[in-house]
Amino acid sequence: MQTAARVHEIAPFHVMEVQTAARALEAAGRSVIHMEIGEPDFPTPEPVVAAAQAGIAGGAVYYTSALGLPELREAIASHYHDHYGVTISPARVVVTSGSSAALLLTLAALVNRDEQILLSDPGYPCTRHLVRTLEGEAVGIPVGPESNYQLTADQVSAYWRPHTRAALVASPSNPTGTMLARPELERIAAVAADRGGRLIVDEIYLGLSYAEAPRSALSLSDEIFVVSSFSKYFNMTGWRLGWLVAPERHVRDIEKLAQSLYISPPTPSQRAALACFRPETLEILEARRREFQARRDFLVPALRELGFGIPVLPTGGFFVYADCSRFGLDSERFALEALAATGVAFTPGVDFGRNRPDAHVRFAYTIGRSKLEEGMRRLAAWLPTLVRT
Ligand SMILES: Cc1ncc(COP(=O)(O)O)c(C=O)c1O
Repeated sequence: MQTAARVHEIAPFHVMEVQTAARALEAAGRSVIHMEIGEPDFPTPEPVVAAAQAGIAGGAVYYTSALGLPELREAIASHYHDHYGVTISPARVVVTSGSSAALLLTLAALVNRDEQILLSDPGYPCTRHLVRTLEGEAVGIPVGPESNYQLTADQVSAYWRPHTRAALVASPSNPTGTMLARPELERIAAVAADRGGRLIVDEIYLGLSYAEAPRSALSLSDEIFVVSSFSKYFNMTGWRLGWLVAPERHVRDIEKLAQSLYISPPTPSQRAALACFRPETLEILEARRREFQARRDFLVPALRELGFGIPVLPTGGFFVYADCSRFGLDSERFALEALAATGVAFTPGVDFGRNRPDAHVRFAYTIGRSKLEEGMRRLAAWLPTLVRT
């Protein structure tokens, strides 16, 4: 029997090919500089690990409500108040298995067969795969440096059709690390509302912002769906915990979906996450955020110096999306040849959409500064051997 059509239309991650090749090189004794990895290199903060251990030792291993532990929902709501100055009801917070599940629940609550979701291209690939899984259509809208690699309200308006249900933006974005300017976000929200649709904002990298005090889209309206995560800022990728803040009248439907999809988010992880908002944990995380910023401040000028095009300074997350077209190879070959020649691993643009992926690569600064420096030294020695265009 054949597998379902949706499976054939979901592309594998090409970064995995680079990662597999990188691991094979390492197994053969080569030193590899990993700039393809999309997760923080820092360990989960110690108070969080201790809270998990205490939770497990105390027997906290049973299912929770599908919406998550009430005290964690409250802690997340308080975090928005303390950190972003937004007051939200804990009743709107749904704790999920990573923001991946938050995206899935949101899209499952909104999208019918053949209905459209507008997304930026380049963008995070899983989102369009989730839309496809739900028999909807993800419409990738090409974005470039002129709009900070983010959707504009004019584009959302031009692409909106009667069967469009929502626009989804990620700020800061993966792969570009760029943010949506507040006035543009307001205009996009207004277009979506005018058309009777929705705005979904992926704020998974918002804690890792390096520009002015970051603002959550939640301060704009109670009608926006915001997804976020413990994975990145809180250094908890493998704990599989995130959350969604939904308009209150949708929470019951989302709860029904969550009950059926995975019953409850992982209980030991929720117990652990309660320690995330303690002052001692936030102090650790803020120091790490400053370290990410220092890495960015080293890496962007270093890559520009080598000849990569980075027209917009990334202001969040831990990625740099760089134009490599000057080096005369399509990005996938460029990434594989760079790996073979230098041991520096990074991600070709093909994972992020159809908008000039062959001309772009993504560097992750999820390694320490001395390794970043070593990576740049190796590329500097190799790049002149390529014919530049
Ligand atoms: C933009 C964006 N959204 C969502 C996710 C999903 O992350 P998680 O499920 O670990 O919260 C990722 C992961 O890399 C991402 O880059």
